[in-house]
Amino acid sequence: TILILDFGSQYSHLITRRCRELNVYAELLPCTQKLSELEFKPKGVILSGGPYSVYDDGSPHVDPEVWSLGVPILGICYGLQEMAWQLKGKVAECDHREYGFAQIHVEKIGNGADILFEGLGEELEVWMSHGDQLSQIPADFHVIGHTPTAPFAAIGHNDKPWYGIQFHPEVTHSPRGREVIGKFVLGVCRCSTHWTMEEFIGKEIARIREVCGPKGRVIGAVSGGVDSTVAAKLMHEAIGDRFHAIMVDNGVLRLDEAAQVDQMLRQNLGVNLTVVDASDLFLGRLEGVEDPEQKRKIIGNTFIHVFEDEAAKLEAEAEKAEAEGEDKKGKIEWLLQGTLYPDVIESISFKGPSATIKTHHNVGGLLKDMKLKLIEPLRELFKDEVRALGRLLNIPAPLVQRHPFPGPGLAIRILGPVNRDQVKILQQADSIYIEEIRKAGLYNQISQAFAVLLPVRAVGVMGDKRTYEQVIALRAVQSEDFMTADWYVFPPDVLRKISSRITNEVAGINRVTYDVSSKPPATVEWL
Ligand code: XMP
Repeated sequence: TILILDFGSQYSHLITRRCRELNVYAELLPCTQKLSELEFKPKGVILSGGPYSVYDDGSPHVDPEVWSLGVPILGICYGLQEMAWQLKGKVAECDHREYGFAQIHVEKIGNGADILFEGLGEELEVWMSHGDQLSQIPADFHVIGHTPTAPFAAIGHNDKPWYGIQFHPEVTHSPRGREVIGKFVLGVCRCSTHWTMEEFIGKEIARIREVCGPKGRVIGAVSGGVDSTVAAKLMHEAIGDRFHAIMVDNGVLRLDEAAQVDQMLRQNLGVNLTVVDASDLFLGRLEGVEDPEQKRKIIGNTFIHVFEDEAAKLEAEAEKAEAEGEDKKGKIEWLLQGTLYPDVIESISFKGPSATIKTHHNVGGLLKDMKLKLIEPLRELFKDEVRALGRLLNIPAPLVQRHPFPGPGLAIRILGPVNRDQVKILQQADSIYIEEIRKAGLYNQISQAFAVLLPVRAVGVMGDKRTYEQVIALRAVQSEDFMTADWYVFPPDVLRKISSRITNEVAGINRVTYDVSSKPPATVEWL
C-alpha cells in the first residue's frame, strides 16, 4: 500500500488513481493523520500538493514520525515545500507564480538520470501550479532537475529514498507524469502489483459472505446507473436471492428506464428485483414546485418513504414464510450502498469550510436512519475501477460506460414546474439526443450529456403556421471528476441532425440551443 497524505490539493485523488492504475493499492488520508495510529504499514508515502504556504500560521504539517518510518517518501509541490520546511531547507515566494507548462531539465547523476526520471529523456514537459518554491535545499539533498525559473524543481536525498518535485506528475497535462509516479511506486518503493479487479472480486465476495453470515439478508436501491448495477450484481454473486434490489420509479426517470432496468437486472442478470411504480406520489408532491433545492428535498424524502414501505413488505413476507416453516429466510439486517472512493475521500479529505452549491447527496446517504447496517462493497473503488469490475461481472458495455444521472432525475432538468406532460417532452428529446450521440460513436468521449427543458416559449414557423412553443437546451461536457468541466465540441452535422429530429419529432418544441458554458462558472446541471 502507498499512503498518500492529502494537504488539500484539488489533484490529491488523482495521485491515488495513478497508483491504482499501476495495480498498486493506494490510500488517501488527511495530512493530519497520526502515523502511530495507521492501520497498515505503507511501502511508501506521498505528500500531496496543497493551497497553503508552509510558513503561514495554521498551515498544515505532516506528523514528523514520517521521517522515521524507514520507507520511501515523495513530496509533490506543497509536499516538497513541506519536506524542505521540516528538514531545514528554505522556501520562498516566487517572483512570478508559475502556472502551466514547464520544461524540467533532468540532471545527470553519475551515468544517467536519477531513478525517478530514468529513461524519461533530458527534458521533461510538466505541469506546474505554485506560488512558493524552494530557495535552498535541505542538507544531504541534491538537485535532480531544474527549470529556468526553479533551480530546485526536483530534489533527492543523498542516501535515503526521499524525493521532492515541484510539478504535478498526477495530472494529464504532465505527459510522462504517470511514468514518474511509476518510477517511484514500482522502482523506488518496489510495491507489488496485486491490485486488480480480478483479485478484488474474489476477495470482496468472500468478505460479503462472511459479513452477512449464512442467513443475513440485504436490501438495496438500484437506479439503472453503473454503480448500483455493479453493486447489485456483486451482491447477487455473493449471496444470491438473499439480496433484494428495489427500483423506485419516481416519475422523473429517463424514457422507459424502469422497464429497461427490470429487463437488465432481473431478467438478464438474475438479480432479485422489485420495481415499484411510485410516480403518482412523486409527481403529486412536486406539483407547482420550482425551487431546485425544494425539488431535491421532496424527491429525497419521498424516496425514503417508498423504500421503507417496500422493506417493511419484504420483512412481513419473510416473517410469514418463517411462520410457515421455511427456515431459509433471515431478517433484513443490511442496507447496500454504492458509495465510491471519491465519496469516502470527500468525507475525510483535508479542506477548510466550503459553501454548499447544491445538496448532492445520493439517495443512499439519506437512508442512514433506517435501523440497518451499511454494506458498501465499492467504497474502495474509483469509477473506472467500478467499470472494470462491471465488465468482469458480465454487465453489458453500454451500461458500464453509462453517463451519470442525478438522483432527482429530470426534475432538475425541467426548469419550470414538473408534471407528466413536461416529463414526457423532456424524455423524448433526451432519448433522441442520446441515441444520436451513440449512433455518431461519440458517447464515450463525452462525460455527461443530457437535454434540459426551458420554461420559456419562442416563436417558430411550421408549414404556413406560426408556432409558439418551448425550447430545449442540450448540454454535453467532458470532465475528469465533475468538479470542473468543459463543454464538448460537437461536429456540426451531429448537432444539426439532433436539432432537426427533436423539433420534428417532439411535440411542443420548436427550438433547440446548445449550452457552451464551462464549469466554473456554470455548473453541469442547470439546477
Ligand atoms: P453540478 O451540476 O453540481 O453537477 O456541476 C456535478 C455532477 O453531479 C450531478 N448532480 C447530482 N447528482 N443528485 C445527484 O445524485 C443531485 O442532486 C445532483 N446534482 C448534480 C450532475 O449530474 C453531475 O454529474
